[in-house]
Amino acid sequence: MAVRKIKPHLHTVLAPEGLYALPVPVLLWQKNTDTLWANPSFEKEFGQVNVERFATQPHLHLIQEKPISLTLFSMVGRHEGFVLENKKGMKIPVEMKINHYGDASDECYLVLIENVSMKVDLEKQLIQNHFEIQKAYAELKTTQDALLQAAKLASLGELSSGIAHELNQPLQAILGFSQELEHLEKLSDTGKEFLGDIIHASKKMAEIIKSLRSFARQSGDELIETDVEHAVREASHLMHHQLMAMGIQMTVKAEKNLPLIVANGIQLEQVMINFMSNARDAIEQTKRKDGMITVTISGGDEAVVVTIKDNGCGMDSQTQSRIFDPFFTTKEVGKGMGLGMSISYGILKRLHAEVSLKSKLAEGTEFQITLPTQSQVTQTRSKR
Ligand SMILES: Nc1ncnc2c1ncn2[C@@H]1O[C@H](COP(=O)(O)OP(=O)(O)O)[C@@H](O)[C@H]1O
Ligand SMILES: [Mg+2]
Repeated sequence: MAVRKIKPHLHTVLAPEGLYALPVPVLLWQKNTDTLWANPSFEKEFGQVNVERFATQPHLHLIQEKPISLTLFSMVGRHEGFVLENKKGMKIPVEMKINHYGDASDECYLVLIENVSMKVDLEKQLIQNHFEIQKAYAELKTTQDALLQAAKLASLGELSSGIAHELNQPLQAILGFSQELEHLEKLSDTGKEFLGDIIHASKKMAEIIKSLRSFARQSGDELIETDVEHAVREASHLMHHQLMAMGIQMTVKAEKNLPLIVANGIQLEQVMINFMSNARDAIEQTKRKDGMITVTISGGDEAVVVTIKDNGCGMDSQTQSRIFDPFFTTKEVGKGMGLGMSISYGILKRLHAEVSLKSKLAEGTEFQITLPTQSQVTQTRSKR
């Protein structure tokens, strides 16, 4: 195949003078003579059309990333996704628009080449922006969820401390008088039984009030350097007998040389007890004989991570999304108050800790609590 420059005098069905002067790069393939022509705009941008670069049949190597054969020229229409090397050796993304002219005696294919680098750059930018927006949206959603949770907890905190205070006074009176009555000899057996019920119910109410108060008090307590493992072991010690009696095994494994975190040891212990007792309840619900709670503590410079895993009933996704809501419980009346998780969440948020969970119905649940070390907390604070 011969390769030629488009000359003004080129004899073809097309007006050659027009092609010659066209400000966009153009290639012209004259089928009968198998000659490829290029106009000066083409040569200006992509260099000389020479046999070596273009005429190696059946593939034209001018298009490096997608070698094309001359037959492509007969594919009339618009073609995207080609790359041409320009004179400086840069790869230029191009689109080619192929038109067909003439008849069997003088058949020509005209290829208009459009440099689409700007379009491609814009597209890349658009995709990049799209991903950034998606990322920002996800972050916004997480922050919004956390804020909503914090707002719920804050309003509940205020409300509950007020209610707890108001209810506690009359309740203590009921309890006090009932206990006095218990010593009266005149009471019938039925009377004694009813009184026992009143005292039992009042004590239960006092417990609830105590929980509400500790929930409202959270923000006042002192934070000092605290050993996470110690808090976990204390909690496990407190749970030990109860779990043994129920045939549930609990193991605590801790890495050596864990860093201290800034927290309130008693509150941290309370958090661990909450997670452990929920694991216990979840196992109890399955009535299985091989109940297991596995607690592991690991850590690095940045954080101490506690995982609490159980082989209990697990949770569906709806329950998972609500567990930190105050008063959310799936337990029967009298068993669960639905405050354990929201109290724990409040305590952990104050320590800048993160809680994540994996759970599958009928298989169990694993909570992961990431407690940042003091240096981490100071760093995040100073970044604000
Ligand atoms: N380990 C767990 N396995 C299954 N469900 C759990 C677990 N931990 C928490 N939950 C669910 O979260 C709910 C809320 O827990 P919590 O706030 O401690 O309240 P409560 O234990 O009083 O119900 C529970 O009722 C239960 O449905
Ligand atoms: Mg609970």
